[in-house]
Amino acid sequence: MISLEKLNALPAQQFVTTLAGVFESSPWVAERVVSARPFASVLHLHETLCAAVGSATLDEQLALIRAHPELAGRAAIRGALTPESAREQEGAGLAACSPLEFARLQELNTEYSQKFGFPFVLAVKGHTRASVLEALAQRLGHGPEEERATALREIGRIARFRLAELLTEPLGVRIIAMARHLARFSEDSEGLTCSYLTSAHRAAAAEVRDFMLSAGLEVSIDAVGNVVGRWGGADSGEATLVTGSHYDTVVNAGQFDGRLGIVLPLAVVADLRRAGVRLPFTLSIVAFAEEEGVRFKLPFLGSRALTGTFDITALDSVDGGGTSLRQALTDCGHDPAAIPSAALDPRTLLGFVEVHIEQGPVLLAAGMPVGVVTSIAGSIRGVVTIIGSSGHAGTVPMGARRDAAAAAAEIVLAVERRCSGTPGLVGTVGELQVPGGAMNVIPGHCVLSIDIRADRDEARKAAFVEIMAEVERISAARGVTFEWRKVLETASVPCSARLQRRWAESITRAAGIAEPRHLPSGAGHDAMVMAGMTEMGMLFVRCGNGGISHHPAESVTAEDADVAARVFADFLLSYAAR
Ligand code: GLV
Ligand code: MN
Ligand code: MN
Repeated sequence: MISLEKLNALPAQQFVTTLAGVFESSPWVAERVVSARPFASVLHLHETLCAAVGSATLDEQLALIRAHPELAGRAAIRGALTPESAREQEGAGLAACSPLEFARLQELNTEYSQKFGFPFVLAVKGHTRASVLEALAQRLGHGPEEERATALREIGRIARFRLAELLTEPLGVRIIAMARHLARFSEDSEGLTCSYLTSAHRAAAAEVRDFMLSAGLEVSIDAVGNVVGRWGGADSGEATLVTGSHYDTVVNAGQFDGRLGIVLPLAVVADLRRAGVRLPFTLSIVAFAEEEGVRFKLPFLGSRALTGTFDITALDSVDGGGTSLRQALTDCGHDPAAIPSAALDPRTLLGFVEVHIEQGPVLLAAGMPVGVVTSIAGSIRGVVTIIGSSGHAGTVPMGARRDAAAAAAEIVLAVERRCSGTPGLVGTVGELQVPGGAMNVIPGHCVLSIDIRADRDEARKAAFVEIMAEVERISAARGVTFEWRKVLETASVPCSARLQRRWAESITRAAGIAEPRHLPSGAGHDAMVMAGMTEMGMLFVRCGNGGISHHPAESVTAEDADVAARVFADFLLSYAAR
């Protein structure tokens, strides 16, 4: 392997020969990006190489596709594959085809090359012989252009896997690059929005899967869309330590909320595997499909499925466009009936740990790159619908109005007033709408959300009771009615004392911090759901830009990501040595 730093500094010709195996017998791809050096990350190099292929002529693209050998084809039999191809084909079990499978593969290969005029190209990592045959049969149904685009996409994936085996880079650089890469998959053209089961969300899941395959994990996607990568232990039996976080985002999100806790363990595991480490237990890295609750107003769907607490009646919930959760799952090829079988068996679990950006200013102010989470705040969330009376903005006298928005405005202030001044208590109205409202119409209908959280459950409950009494008083005084629909109520969850100790020890060893900072989490996390099933602990990573989060300015530095990665590696290795 060679470092990216070295590759950036090589003479042009050596740069091209170093990358010779990445695009099958096609050195021109590397030649075209020489002048774009230095590359900031391996992913940046990969994107630039793929862009060079994308902007090549049609003949060049076809030549690149044709440079690939058939899978288990004549070149494989003659032993004439490039070392990269030979390893990959063997990895998918193609070297061990039964006579029947071999005959079927030959037959489909022939039909394919007759139809398209080039060999069938597939990134076989993560495939079995059966799934290769299935993909081949399915792609035979493509039109010529669709298939050429598919082949080029697969060549890009092959290149990514090969680059991961060839190049090293600092962990922090890699982690930030992976988070930035995932942020490209968004519902908005500007900014990052990736809500549950949208096409951006599915594309992000496919990228996470490729990241996991690159890191050498066995990957599966469960019935709610959790992407699960397993790194089997040396003599573990079933004992599994689970880590991970969510890949869905809020609207106009930052790039690290959730995603950091997926890509950081992946970068660490890739490095440990490369160094020949085998853990004595299985490590499972979960990219939770849904945590934020944006689309269906139902948070934690991913972790609820894994803990066997997914409420099946939730399948009838609808999003803002009237699509039910059941329908959205089915449209994405998931089987809602299989959700209960996604649950983990608690008897096999060693614990759950989550790495997450702090999303607040505490570590920043303390000058600490990482910290140990002590507890996760409990919360109550719900929606208030106020019904007043609409009317003409010009003709109804002020004293005769039943204005739903004016009532809502008073409620917003009541939430703010009641939740100010109690340490650890916060209250937010994050959604406020006048459905069907117009400038010249008195609002007859208003919908607002209320989110109250506290580290102490008594403080949260007392605030909620008093706020609802205020909602009642305000409504009566203004002659409007209201309905309250609770969306979520969670108790505050302490992190395991033992895991807090382990995180603190790892911070001291790996980051040289004698007295690690301990802090509570005001944000909710999948970890609080996982805590219902197994021992739970969390590591926070410093949040830049004043600690802003749920905002595009959310930031983590590569240096802090590097420290957190070393802490995480130490945590795994010391856990293994216990
Ligand atoms: C999740 O980000 C939450 O705390 O709302
Ligand atoms: Mn969030
Ligand atoms: Mn989060």
